[in-house]
Amino acid sequence: MLTQQQILSYDTDGFLVVEGFADGDDCRKLRERVTELISDFDPGNQISIFTTNNQTRHSDEYFLESGGCIRFFFEEHAFDQRGRLIIEKNRAINKIGHALHDFDPVFSEFSRRYAVQEIVRGLEVHKPLLAQSMYIFKQPEIGGEVCCHQDSSFLYTEPNSVVGLWFALEDATINNGCLWAIPGGHRAGLKSRFVRNGLGTKFVSIAKPDWDMDLLVPLEVNEGDLILLNGLLPHLSKRNFSEKSRHAFSLHIIDGTCDYPGENWLQRDEANPFRGF
Ligand code: FE2
Repeated sequence: MLTQQQILSYDTDGFLVVEGFADGDDCRKLRERVTELISDFDPGNQISIFTTNNQTRHSDEYFLESGGCIRFFFEEHAFDQRGRLIIEKNRAINKIGHALHDFDPVFSEFSRRYAVQEIVRGLEVHKPLLAQSMYIFKQPEIGGEVCCHQDSSFLYTEPNSVVGLWFALEDATINNGCLWAIPGGHRAGLKSRFVRNGLGTKFVSIAKPDWDMDLLVPLEVNEGDLILLNGLLPHLSKRNFSEKSRHAFSLHIIDGTCDYPGENWLQRDEANPFRGF
């Protein structure tokens, strides 16, 4: 349960660190579950790379369908120049997305536990829907950067309603690619939307808020801590050059009373609509 002080802090900064949300056992169970998922995953010819710097890489069917299932995306630097995987599978995956919270029982249980519901309720989401989840690896030495963005670009609603919950499953530091954010930057509005464009995707500019990168602050957290992120908050993470991974599970909630446009990149089919807690 969030205190009034925490809610005020979230409203002011656009983010809030909730220390010790999960215990060591919770984090270990999620990490172990992901190890199982990867060992069952046969990439075959289906190699999809995740990078926020090259949007053409987003534009394949494998990515576009991933809003309604569990899919695996590789690190850009896990391949040689001829496109051959040069790192073992479990050290080469950038992230798994985007519906672990609905299609994996371990992640569904974690995402829907009472403590999560209470936190979201404190942020006055009237009809919470679990829209997206990702397991993010930030692999040792090759974990790629995620350039400055707002989560609401990817899960646009009218009016804006996105709340991101970023669970640190390992310590996240400046050295292994922790999040960085611009305190108060959520008040400058939404910069762009990431939408479907035929069989691909594109960014559509909305406004040009000036993001002063000198204002970025590192959000270093310990295993088990939770970072709440307003969907409009500009944030990024840098490449992990260290020898330590930086696993995190992120869950995005939208308000079902808001409009969710059909051109948003992430769509669910009628048989599997967004669900609440
Ligand atoms: Fe993000």
